[in-house]
Amino acid sequence: MNGSKPKKVLKVLVLSDLRYIKRLHQADLRFEAYLVTMSELDRAAISAMRRSYGDQGLSEADLAPNPLAQFQSWLHEAAQNPIIVEANAMVLGTIEEDGPATRTVLLKDVTDGGFTFFSNYQSQKGRQIALNPKVSLLFPWYAMERQVIILGAAKEIDRSESEEYFATRPWSSQIGAWASLQSEPLVSRSELEVRFQKYSKEFPEGSSVPIPPYWGGYVVQATSIEFWQGRYSRLHDRIRYTANSFEGQYLGLANNGWKAERFFP
Ligand SMILES: Cc1cc2nc3c(=O)[nH]c(=O)nc-3n(C[C@H](O)[C@H](O)[C@H](O)COP(=O)(O)O)c2cc1C
Repeated sequence: MNGSKPKKVLKVLVLSDLRYIKRLHQADLRFEAYLVTMSELDRAAISAMRRSYGDQGLSEADLAPNPLAQFQSWLHEAAQNPIIVEANAMVLGTIEEDGPATRTVLLKDVTDGGFTFFSNYQSQKGRQIALNPKVSLLFPWYAMERQVIILGAAKEIDRSESEEYFATRPWSSQIGAWASLQSEPLVSRSELEVRFQKYSKEFPEGSSVPIPPYWGGYVVQATSIEFWQGRYSRLHDRIRYTANSFEGQYLGLANNGWKAERFFP
């Protein structure tokens, strides 16, 4: 054993407070910062983070019989709320053989047919959806003590619809779609910028930019939509509408094959 080597220290970055840097080793003109795990104080502070949720609950009487209508009404309220940034941002979960993957995408349409977003069909998510179309969508509207979780299957929308939407995007976003080989490793930022310049010359501003063949929309046809509303004493309201399978008490909410049931929080 080389006694002059620094001891291995758990390397956990605590970016919020550099006071917790406990050791700094200098070796061979290299500086290595070994940052220790969070102190007990930090952990206690995190564990104490909690809010008391409100009195405004979800009552069966107030819910729309159709969950898509109920969703539209919550999305509208979230979009009106000045504290909520990007009310249409949702976390898309996909499945790969060796585990799950998540990322944020933007909802661009919601109809009886489902929830639409746009992406690169050759991206990680695109490859995963091609192998297994089952996905989840989660809208985290924390400022309103609300969450909506949707389960369903994603499929590519009609090409003409993707073309129509692509044409409405700003020119720079259109060029960005050409420039990005989404989810592929990138050697340096300049490689991306060079690609952007290349496509900017090929499709100059003001010209009609064609849709990249690998870019388009997905629609998620929901089989389950759960509405969560935070309540006092952690007695939150959870109401889940299901389209296919259903076990439990009907709430009297039934529309277009949708049934709803309440769950323990
Ligand atoms: C607020 C926000 C909105 C985003 N919207 C989209 C989107 O609509 N479509 C998309 O492909 N990526 C979007 N992204 C980027 C994705 O989160 C992700 O990085 C990218 O799609 C690559 O994911 P993948 O490698 O898992 O396929 C968004 C990211 C954020 C933070």
